[in-house]
Amino acid sequence: MTKLKEKLLEKIESWRPRTTKLIKEQGDTKIGDITIAQTIGGMRGVKCLITDISYLDPIEGIRFRGYTIPEVLEKLPKPPGAETPYVEGFVYLLLTGDIPTENEANEIADEFKKRKEVPKYVFDVLNALPADSHPMAMFSSAILSMQKESEFVKSYHSGIGKMDYWNPTYEDSLNLLAKLPEIGAYIYRKKYRNNDIIPPDPNLDFGGNFAHMMGIDKPYDDLSRLYFILHSDHESGNVSAHTGHLVASALSDVYYAISAMINGLAGPLHGLANEMVLRWIQEVMGKMGGKTPNKEEMKKFVWDTLNSGQVIPGYGHAVLRKTDPRYEAQRDFCLKHLPDDPIFEYVSILYDVVPDILAEHGKAKNPWPNVDAQSGVIQWYYGIKEYDFYTVLFGIGRAIGVLCNIIWDRALGYPIERPKSLTTDMLEKIASGK
Ligand SMILES: CC(C)(COP(=O)(O)OP(=O)(O)OC[C@H]1O[C@@H](n2cnc3c(N)ncnc32)[C@H](O)[C@@H]1OP(=O)(O)O)[C@@H](O)C(=O)NCCC(=O)NCCS
Repeated sequence: MTKLKEKLLEKIESWRPRTTKLIKEQGDTKIGDITIAQTIGGMRGVKCLITDISYLDPIEGIRFRGYTIPEVLEKLPKPPGAETPYVEGFVYLLLTGDIPTENEANEIADEFKKRKEVPKYVFDVLNALPADSHPMAMFSSAILSMQKESEFVKSYHSGIGKMDYWNPTYEDSLNLLAKLPEIGAYIYRKKYRNNDIIPPDPNLDFGGNFAHMMGIDKPYDDLSRLYFILHSDHESGNVSAHTGHLVASALSDVYYAISAMINGLAGPLHGLANEMVLRWIQEVMGKMGGKTPNKEEMKKFVWDTLNSGQVIPGYGHAVLRKTDPRYEAQRDFCLKHLPDDPIFEYVSILYDVVPDILAEHGKAKNPWPNVDAQSGVIQWYYGIKEYDFYTVLFGIGRAIGVLCNIIWDRALGYPIERPKSLTTDMLEKIASGK
């Protein structure tokens, strides 16, 4: 057993009694009430999920294992000369709850190196898909095609005990995660760079190797690490995280679960919003003939969009009630590396005008920008101008958080999900007190 796995086992064994005690001794304690509006309204705010990997405070934003984004970026070890931390060290943090030493981060890097070879048939699957397939459909298919590799399935059929489910799930998770950068970069280079594939460099870290395979120079490696970390997890209730957890709760292996997670992420109200932001900004740019609008002109574009019944992409959030700290971390990166970029200027002007307009408009509960308001802009700056690909980047990041969650779901023996549904008729009867 590796040191990391030993440590994880120790953490799991000391955590289990907490879960058992809560169910046994406090199982009937109420933690909330549910309204009709919540039942009809997408279960918004219903407290019915558990995760210890991240927590989303509506005002403060996300904390990963108790650490804010600035703390994560400051405390985790970084590759020599880099601005942003190793993704490997971040995986260690999400799995164990501890900030790793450089050596501990390297242990995960070594694990990834051992497991990163993508089976040839995955490329065959990708090559067999229609040339105009969406990159998310390609990504999901590539992941699903590897299902036959699952260690969990083999162990399950050989009769492994429930307490040990986490172990082959951990193996599957690291095996899959290690391969995602190469699959993502392959989809990009195949689809948008004439199939000019750049082989991986075994000496590079997760983010550095991804930047290398994308064929983009520094500081894109720093951006990749930042991007994957920022997009990794946002509690359990968002569509991608929840889908991953739900599918895995049926004891489907992580290939099924992460492929499904990617499908959920592909929706325009979720991961696709980053491309919508860029499309919208470029539409405004086109109308302005490339000139940067002043605030009054920008306000008019925002109102025109709202009055035509559309949402302002990149603004609003189901839980957050302030500027998303993931937006702020990316804005800091832009201020350092692309302060004079014209699209970034647009993003900055929008930040000045949209919150007041959305507040006046009076619908959105959160008028502040979310993660997607910044992310496409940076990718565009570094030459990734194919919007459709942006959500694949999000997917690589999100897989990190969801896989760590699934390992812990299995470790703590969380059961299959099965909420209860009612009919409209029943709700009407409950409402009228009958
Ligand atoms: C993120 C989002 C899907 C959250 O949805 P939500 O939890 O239903 O948000 P709210 O409860 O604040 O929505 C209440 C109303 O405000 C509207 N609203 C929310 N964000 C809005 C925005 N950015 N622009 C205009 N209207 C918005 C909603 O459409 C809804 O209108 P309705 O009552 O007519 O259906 C929503 O804010 C949105 O569509 N934002 C734009 C897309 C985006 O950036 N997605 C990425 C999310 S990370």
